[in-house]
Amino acid sequence: MVLAVCGAAGAGMGTGVAVAASKADPLVARGKYVVTIGGCNDCHTAGYAQKDGKVPVKDWLEGDILGWRGEWGTTYPVNLRNYINKLTEKQWIATAKNLKARPPMPAANVRQMTEQDLKAVYHFVKSLGPAGNEAPAYVPPDKTPNPPFVQFPGPPPGAPQK
Ligand code: HEC
Repeated sequence: MVLAVCGAAGAGMGTGVAVAASKADPLVARGKYVVTIGGCNDCHTAGYAQKDGKVPVKDWLEGDILGWRGEWGTTYPVNLRNYINKLTEKQWIATAKNLKARPPMPAANVRQMTEQDLKAVYHFVKSLGPAGNEAPAYVPPDKTPNPPFVQFPGPPPGAPQK
């Protein structure tokens, strides 16, 4: 019984912040949801996939030092906390609607988000504030990056050439 009460209190405390924040700004809760199901944490939050999502929200979207290497060179998921907090809401929506990025960033998916969802993402990331270091700089294809990095295989034999 005591344990159950403790557990409930713990869980309540965990969500209390989000509930309080969403009361102040309903877009924050929606933004957290969009970021979660949009898969942004998979690359932009260190350890998120490995820990099955058990990373405190305050540590979300700070970018990662894990590089993604392929024919495009080596790219690093940017620190979205710093990136988005530097922009106005209008600038973020315009940037996201025209987003261009190297693989494996799914820019095409972000470009198709509704303005309302992009607005929600903005309010959520704004509520978290800037945090963390910048991700390492892009490394061109002819240069070997420092580990750690994920190596993509080359195109399979017989694949259509660009
Ligand atoms: C599969 C990994 C992956 C996922 C999933 C992912 N990103 Fe990225 N993202 C990256 C990488 C890598 C870069 C850096 C690309 C580059 O260097 O051109 C990046 C860059 C970005 C940029 C900066 C683009 C620029 O150069 O101006 C934004 C904004 C961004 N991501 C937003 C998002 C959002 C929002 C989501 C969730 C909907 C998301 N990303 C999901 C890997 C990912």
